[in-house]
Formats: sequence, structure tokens, C-alpha cells
Amino acid sequence: MIEIKNLHVTVEGKEILSNINITIPNGEVHALFGPNGSGKTTLIMTIIGYPQYNVTDGEIIFEGRNLLDLEIDERARLGIGVAQQRPPTIKGVKLRTIIDFYSKNNPEKADYISTQVEKFEMQDFIDREINANLSGGEIKKSEIFQMVVASPKFLILDEPDSGIDPVFLSKIGGMLTDILKSKKNQDKITTRKSGLIITHTGDILNYFKTNLAYLMMDGMIGCTGNPQEMLEQIQQHGYEYCINCNRRKREFQ
Ligand SMILES: Nc1ncnc2c1ncn2[C@@H]1O[C@H](COP(=O)(O)OP(=O)(O)OP(=O)(O)O)[C@@H](O)[C@H]1O
Ligand SMILES: [Mg+2]
Repeated sequence: MIEIKNLHVTVEGKEILSNINITIPNGEVHALFGPNGSGKTTLIMTIIGYPQYNVTDGEIIFEGRNLLDLEIDERARLGIGVAQQRPPTIKGVKLRTIIDFYSKNNPEKADYISTQVEKFEMQDFIDREINANLSGGEIKKSEIFQMVVASPKFLILDEPDSGIDPVFLSKIGGMLTDILKSKKNQDKITTRKSGLIITHTGDILNYFKTNLAYLMMDGMIGCTGNPQEMLEQIQQHGYEYCINCNRRKREFQ
């Protein structure tokens, strides 16, 4: 699905990411862990193509296309969806405008989309401007709801579980479980979508299977391994200890 090869990224002349190699096959969801400021958000902003992230070396191949040749909107059209850590407020644009746009362009999904508004209790939000005066948790819910509507092939979620109360978390977990299922042939689930999920707590990973995890430190991937094992080790012993785990290095590298 996506292959990131030897990626180096600078922001305002400073190298933030170096030698990133990540491959996420079709149907797999991978997790990205790492301390504050390690470069996780920089990686996803580079994948989607924000112009201030300057790729100095490497490639990002998505379904055979080099994303670095494409503009941000062209990348989104290929089926890459991002729920940002800190999405912007879009004054003058209501959530309803986005929902109506998708329904108009995908008439076969219009009924499904309107049922999702009720299912995820978004009625109170759809006539408000995007993210304007929403609480932190409400912004997350709105971001992820846009994923439900757009149904991208590849989901990138930057800390969907940060600052979320447990009841809201289970709703978001339910949303993501729903989105990750690709439904075809009379709603029979045939395949699973792919994704990359950044989380500090791992709370969101309790809702669906995550195949592999990476630990990013100082702009580099320091370790690759089993998500639950890695998370437990980070929580018990810290990031440095986790990276120095030789057993895991033998198993996965
Ligand atoms: N324009 C810039 N100039 C200098 N440094 C920058 C710039 N933009 C980002 N950085 C730095 O790049 C590093 C990586 O930031 P990034 O947002 O990717 O971290 P993160 O891993 O997502 O952290 P968090 O877990 O806190 O969200 C940080 O130290 C940040 O201060
Ligand atoms: Mg971040």
C-alpha cells in the first residue's frame, strides 16, 4: 500500500527526519510511538504533502505512485486521509458542507453518510464551522467523522486518543473499527483498509488489530516490533530501554 524509503526531511533548513523506512502492506494497520518532538507529526505532514516539509532524499510510494511528484490534493484524491493532531479552524465552512460535497459526489453513499451522522451523534456539530469553538475532544471526533464520510483507502491518525474521555474514546474506537472495514458485495466485509496511527497511550489500539509498531526517536526509527509488547516496555521502562532491546531487534530487524 505505502512504502517509505530512506526518507530525509528538513523544516526551515533543519533536518527533522533521517533515513525513515516504513512499509505498510494492504490491509495492515501500523502504530507509531515516540516521545514528544521526535518527528511523528512531521512524518505524516510529509506524507500528505504540506509544503513546508522539504524532502531532501528518499521516496514515498503509494500504490505504485511516487507521492513526492504530486500536490497535496492529488495525494488526498488517491485515497489518503489524515486526521491531524491539531487541525485548523476553517471559518465560514460548516461540517455539513463537507458532508454534502461527499454525498453529491458519491450518490450511492448518500444514505449511508446520513445514517452515520445519527450513529455518531454528529447532529449538533454539522451546522457549526469546522473546529470553531469546539472542545479538544469534539475536534478529534469531528476529524475522525470526516474520515467516516470520506472513507479513504489509507488512514493516517495523529493521536486520535489524546485528550479524549473514555466514553468518547469508545465512540471513536467504534468509528475507526467501522472505517477500517471495506464493505463490498452486499455489505460483506471483504478486505480491511490500511492505516498508520500515532498514539502515546495506545488506548485506541484496543479497538482493532494493529500489525506492527515503530518507535521514533530523534527523527529516526529506532525499533520495530509487536505493538502491545513495545507499548508495555515503553510504559514500564521508557523509550531508551525499548530501543536497546536486543531480543526484539533480532526478531524484527
Ligand atoms: N519550523 C520548524 N523549525 C524548527 N524546528 C521545527 C519546526 N517544525 C518542527 N520542528 C521541530 O521538529 C521536531 C519534531 O516535531 P513533531 O511535531 O514532528 O514531533 P512529534 O513527534 O509529533 O511530537 P508530539 O508527540 O509532541 O506531537 C520538534 O522538535 C519540533 O520543535
Ligand atoms: Mg505530533
